[in-house]
Amino acid sequence: MVYTLNHDQSKVQPDLRIYADADTLSREAASDIGERINGRVSTGQTFSMVLSGGTTPETLYGILAAEFRDRIPWRSVHLFWGDERYVPANDPLSNYAMVKRALLRDVPIPDANIHPMPTDLPDPDKAARAYESILKAYFGPREPRFDLILLGMGEEGHTASLFPGSPALDEPELWVVAVHAPVQPPVRLSLSLRVLNLAESVFFLVAGAKKAPALLRALFPAEVPSPAARVRPNDGQVVWWADPAAAEFLPDALRKASWREPKR
Ligand code: 6PG
Repeated sequence: MVYTLNHDQSKVQPDLRIYADADTLSREAASDIGERINGRVSTGQTFSMVLSGGTTPETLYGILAAEFRDRIPWRSVHLFWGDERYVPANDPLSNYAMVKRALLRDVPIPDANIHPMPTDLPDPDKAARAYESILKAYFGPREPRFDLILLGMGEEGHTASLFPGSPALDEPELWVVAVHAPVQPPVRLSLSLRVLNLAESVFFLVAGAKKAPALLRALFPAEVPSPAARVRPNDGQVVWWADPAAAEFLPDALRKASWREPKR
């Protein structure tokens, strides 16, 4: 049975998968992604995947580039970004630049299938509207229900560029928001929580002891749930890929039940 997080998390176990280390969890997640993409594309559909920024997913992107170059039908995959720092696309801080370096350079994906968030407009709000148009061009009249959204999580529970206390968390309509984040660089674009919660599947990649408090709060929310805790797709699956250090504060029974040996 695949559990999904719901409002009363005390009853339903999250789909938490704890692997020995960040490299192993990245490898297992990459294999799962490969299976999902091939499964979807074999039915004649394209696969829409939202990429996360930050450092944790770089290992996963490197594995996709090195080991899945010829095992994923990249011509049928469309890549989007969950958030972007409002810097030039060739800036070392750009999430697009990181993905280009770690993945795009090495896989045969058509340029037309790569949909970075625009950061070259003077007004980030206009850039958010421009990205929304890009999403609408892909989804047409449908709601933006991505096949898979990859997310990371900050030490205080932010995800994408949705930070605790941000009014953007309660944006009811927009698909893409421009935000002022409490980190450098401060101006960012982010998919809204509304879009994150429309996903068919969400993968959180969480590694390292510094994430342990936030992972506990994400799976067992406090009075005011963190942004990561609020990612609960109405009709979708959330999978938490973690290492033991990040899972340190979780209840023993959950950690034991969530331990996974690598399949590959
Ligand atoms: C970003 C990310 C952000 C990231 C977390 C975790 O633009 O930085 O989208 O949400 O996923 O901050 O980052 P690390 O993986 O580097 O810990």
